Amino acid sequence: MIVSAKEMLEKAVAGHYAVPQFNINNLEWTKSILTVCEELKVPVILGVSMGAGKYMGGYKTVAAMVYAMHDSLGITVPVALHLDHGNYDAAYECIKAGFTSIMFDGSSLPFEENLAKAKELVAVAHKLGLSIECEVGGIGGEEDGVISTGECADPEECKIIADLGVDMLAAGIGNIHGAYPANWAGLQFDVLEAIKAKTGDMPLVLHGGSGIPDDQVRKAVSMGVAKVNVNSECQWAFAAATREYIEQGKDKQGKGFDPRKLLAPGAEAIKRVCRERSEVFGCVGKA
Ligand code: G3H
Ligand code: ZN
Repeated sequence: MIVSAKEMLEKAVAGHYAVPQFNINNLEWTKSILTVCEELKVPVILGVSMGAGKYMGGYKTVAAMVYAMHDSLGITVPVALHLDHGNYDAAYECIKAGFTSIMFDGSSLPFEENLAKAKELVAVAHKLGLSIECEVGGIGGEEDGVISTGECADPEECKIIADLGVDMLAAGIGNIHGAYPANWAGLQFDVLEAIKAKTGDMPLVLHGGSGIPDDQVRKAVSMGVAKVNVNSECQWAFAAATREYIEQGKDKQGKGFDPRKLLAPGAEAIKRVCRERSEVFGCVGKA
């Protein structure tokens, strides 16, 4: 079923595990993720950034691919098709394209503007049965060219946004998109605790899931993080597997240049990351 993320996140909060958001970047990503999540009975959120959506031919193309592949693979676990770090316009485009969940990322806007736009989109999304994620405190690092410092979210602002009725809240707690620097101070669990105290059972979202030590992820999940986003780790694994295939000269052996062979090691590497992350998030068998 392709559904909103609301119910799967409510179950995750109650069950003290996290639902993975695995970002998709093309057909191979989509097929690998859906295949593994069905195999492990993992509820999954397929994240689509604005850049990835453009790369794949637009949100309607992405939705058509995901819906068709969901049916052709016989997927039975809950799947949400989710705009990741969307701006105001992209949110409406994805609603029209058939997405079942949207993130309005207004963290770069003045708080009052973030609040006003979030309020409007919450009402529209819920009227149409979609789930909606909003963000407080820019997540550090770079995502689709959006660079942020990674400041920690203000628990008071988190409460204000949560009180709008969002279905999930991305709150910066020192997490960063992409690779973590060697001198990274780690997740700020005191900030997470303060945010949790203000937001109750609101499903919290941990962006920048690639490269966070497993024990820190598990601790964050135990403290109310119900969705963990992973993109870079799948990209790194795909690139390494593809590089190895070519460095071994396999692209020059027989029909090794055929993209169905050339992309296969990378596709398997994505599956491996999805399996490993799902085990850490505690979501295996939860669908
Ligand atoms: O929104 C997407 C995620 O936050 C991706 O973060 O590339 O560091 O795993 P990551
Ligand atoms: Zn993110």
